[in-house]
Amino acid sequence: MSAKTYILGSDWDELERLRFQHKVWSKEAFDLWSRAGISLGDSVLDIGSGPGFASADLAAIVGPGGFVMGLDKTPEYNDFARNLLAHSGHTNHTFENAELTDYTLPEAAFDFVYSRWVFSWINDPKPILEQIMSTLKPGGSFLFQEYMHWATLAVHPKRKEVDRVIAACRQSWENMPSEINIGPTMVDELKKLGFRIQHIKVLPKIGRPSDMVWQWPGTFLTIYSEKLVEYGLLTREERSAFIPVWNELEQDPAAFVCGPLMLEVIAVKP
Ligand SMILES: C[S@@+](CC[C@H](N)C(=O)[O-])C[C@H]1O[C@@H](n2cnc3c(N)ncnc32)[C@H](O)[C@@H]1O
Repeated sequence: MSAKTYILGSDWDELERLRFQHKVWSKEAFDLWSRAGISLGDSVLDIGSGPGFASADLAAIVGPGGFVMGLDKTPEYNDFARNLLAHSGHTNHTFENAELTDYTLPEAAFDFVYSRWVFSWINDPKPILEQIMSTLKPGGSFLFQEYMHWATLAVHPKRKEVDRVIAACRQSWENMPSEINIGPTMVDELKKLGFRIQHIKVLPKIGRPSDMVWQWPGTFLTIYSEKLVEYGLLTREERSAFIPVWNELEQDPAAFVCGPLMLEVIAVKP
């Protein structure tokens, strides 16, 4: 796999997983946007916007007088995002196909920059954070929700078939040139760049099979385990053993899952 490959891929199942993931995390996203003060008329850059589920909500918040720009290197996601926003009646948006490390952002152009589940896949976040500093207007904010500690992912009751898939995921993160638990490093870099750290919160997610939260790791492990077989980190038999065990756990009302811990930050440009 080349250093520029996006490890989670962009097929239809992954897109649907991102849609679902956005639903599970949309309360936290709206809370953060509101805390940062995003409102009518603002310009927002959604960096690593994927299929645009967050961008669509942001476009509704900033209204026709505001503007949302999405940047993502996956063209299929940008096409989907353009359609999604157009079908919701939004005209105040643009989505650019861009490798973040090669893209030059306009200076002092945005009131807000938002990222979620993006910097874990970036080998060197520093130059992008420098660009974010430059593309924000003075007093503008960068807000992110990124992984803090992926290894908090655990399922009870413990089953070796599930633990095996989680271990293979962790191995795949270790093989990446980027850092999965990138949130805290971003705080350090933002401080060095002169951002004022206005807000920091750690976000846990715990759910039982009857909660939507259960399906967050469930859909991820089901889809990504297929990729892990492709990457040679899991055998076909191990993946086949995982699926019925997961379905069995789902029937246990006393089962619960603790998801990967996230970190959210609001950093203000002076
Ligand atoms: C897990 S998805 C998250 C999408 C969206 N931010 C969300 O919250 O639903 C990560 C996204 O980052 C994009 N991405 C990863 N590395 C990138 C890079 N180097 N340049 C541009 N986009 C990148 C992928 O194409 C993918 O759409």
